[in-house]
Amino acid sequence: MKRPVPPLALYVHLPWCVRKCPYCDFNSHVVPAAGLPERAYLAALLDDLEFAARDCEGRELVSVFFGGGTPSLFAAESVGRILEQADRLFVAAPDLEVTLEANPGTVERGRFADYRAAGVTRVSLGAQSFDDDRLATLGRIHSSRETLAAVAELRAAGLDNFNLDLMYALPEQTPEGALADLEQALRLDPAHVSHYQLTLEPGTAFERRPPQLPDEEASFAMQGACESRLAAAGLRQYEVSAYATAGRECRHNLNYWRFGDYLGIGAGAHGKLTDPVAGSVLRTARVRQPARYLAAGTPAARIEESRRVFADDLAFEFFLNVLRLVDGFDAAQFESRTGLAWESVAAAVAVAEAKGLLRGGPRHRWVPTPLGRRFLNDLQALFLPASTESAANTDPGGLALAARIG
Ligand SMILES: C[S@@+](CC[C@H](N)C(=O)[O-])C[C@H]1O[C@@H](n2cnc3c(N)ncnc32)[C@H](O)[C@@H]1O
Ligand code: SF4
Repeated sequence: MKRPVPPLALYVHLPWCVRKCPYCDFNSHVVPAAGLPERAYLAALLDDLEFAARDCEGRELVSVFFGGGTPSLFAAESVGRILEQADRLFVAAPDLEVTLEANPGTVERGRFADYRAAGVTRVSLGAQSFDDDRLATLGRIHSSRETLAAVAELRAAGLDNFNLDLMYALPEQTPEGALADLEQALRLDPAHVSHYQLTLEPGTAFERRPPQLPDEEASFAMQGACESRLAAAGLRQYEVSAYATAGRECRHNLNYWRFGDYLGIGAGAHGKLTDPVAGSVLRTARVRQPARYLAAGTPAARIEESRRVFADDLAFEFFLNVLRLVDGFDAAQFESRTGLAWESVAAAVAVAEAKGLLRGGPRHRWVPTPLGRRFLNDLQALFLPASTESAANTDPGGLALAARIG
C-alpha cells in the first residue's frame, strides 16, 4: 500500500539585511551598494517555485514562511506575488499560516497593514533584547523604542498573532537583565516567544573576537527562571526554544519538527520531499550565495545539492527533529513519516528510556524527560546510524536554521 505523504510547507529565503549582526551565521548579506535587487530576485523566486512545484503540484499547503535575512526589506507587493503563485500551484489549507520575519529597524508606518493585505497572517519580530546597551553590543540597527513602535504597528494592522525573538546569556547580561527583557516582552502580550541562548557561531565576528559571556551555570539559571516566567504568563514551552499561548504554536516550524515536507526557494534554501514509492526522502539545497543564485539563470542551475536519504539516516533525521518537541512523538508517526518499521528503532528507544532520557506513555507516545531535554545531544546521538558517528556534528537539511526560526 502506498503510504500517505506528510503535510507540505513552503519556505522563502530573502537573504539581505541592512547590516550584518556580529553573532549571526545565517545566510544573510548586507544590501549591495547598488541597492536591493528586488525585481530580479522576485523573478527568480517565482521561477523556482514553479519548478519546485512540479514534484508536488496540487498538494495541500499548510504554511508559508518568509525568512531571512530581513524579509521586511521586501515590498508587500513582492510578498503578495509569491503568495498568488503559491495559491495557483497548490491547494491552500483553510487555515494557511503565512509568517514574515521582520526587523524592528525596517518597519515604516503602514507597512504591516500592506503585508497583511498581501496575505501575511503572522509576524516574527527580531526584538532580541529591550536593553539598548545590549542591542548596541549585538550590533542591532534598532533601539527598544523601535521594537515597541513595531508592536504598536502590528496591533494597528490587526496582526495579533506575532512572535518576539529574544536572546539571553548576552555579553555582560545578569540573570536580572535576562528576566527584565522577558518582562518587557510579556508586557507586549505576544502570542509566541522564541527564547534563544546566544551562541558563538563559526565564521562570525563574535567567534573571531569573543565577547565575555555569562558562564554555563549563570546561563542555565537564566533559562530556568525565564522558562518559569513564560509558563506563568501562559506561554507553554513546546520546543527547545519556542513558547506559545494555546493554539498559537508556529505551524511552519512544527511541520519541520514533526518531519513534514517542505519546499525551499531562494538563495541557500533547503527542501525536503517524501517519495513514498521509493521509500526515501529527497533533500535539495539551492545555491547559497545570492549573487551566484541570481546569476544561475535557470531554476535547475540554482539547485546546488540534491540527495536521497534512506533507512537508518532517515530514522536519525526523524529523531533529530521530533526529540526537540516537548510532546515528543509516537510509533505510528515514526512509521508514516519514515516508511520504516517501529521495530527498527525499538531497541534504541528502550536504551533511551533505561537512561532516563525518554518516557513512554499511552498509545506508544514517547516524550523527552527533563533530563533528556537538558542533554538533548546525547539523546539524539542514541539514534545515530552505526556507520556515521560524526553525523552528530553536521546539520542535515538546515535543521539548525529551522530550529532558530520563530
Ligand atoms: C534569521 S533571524 C531572523 C530575524 C531578523 N533577521 C532579525 O534579526 O531581526 C532569526 C533569529 O535567530 C536568532 N539568532 C541568530 N543568531 C543567533 C545566535 N548566534 N545565537 C542565538 N540566536 C541567534 C535571533 O534571535 C534572530 O532573531
Ligand atoms: S540576525 Fe537577522 S538582522 Fe542580523 S544579520 Fe542575521 S538575519 Fe540579518
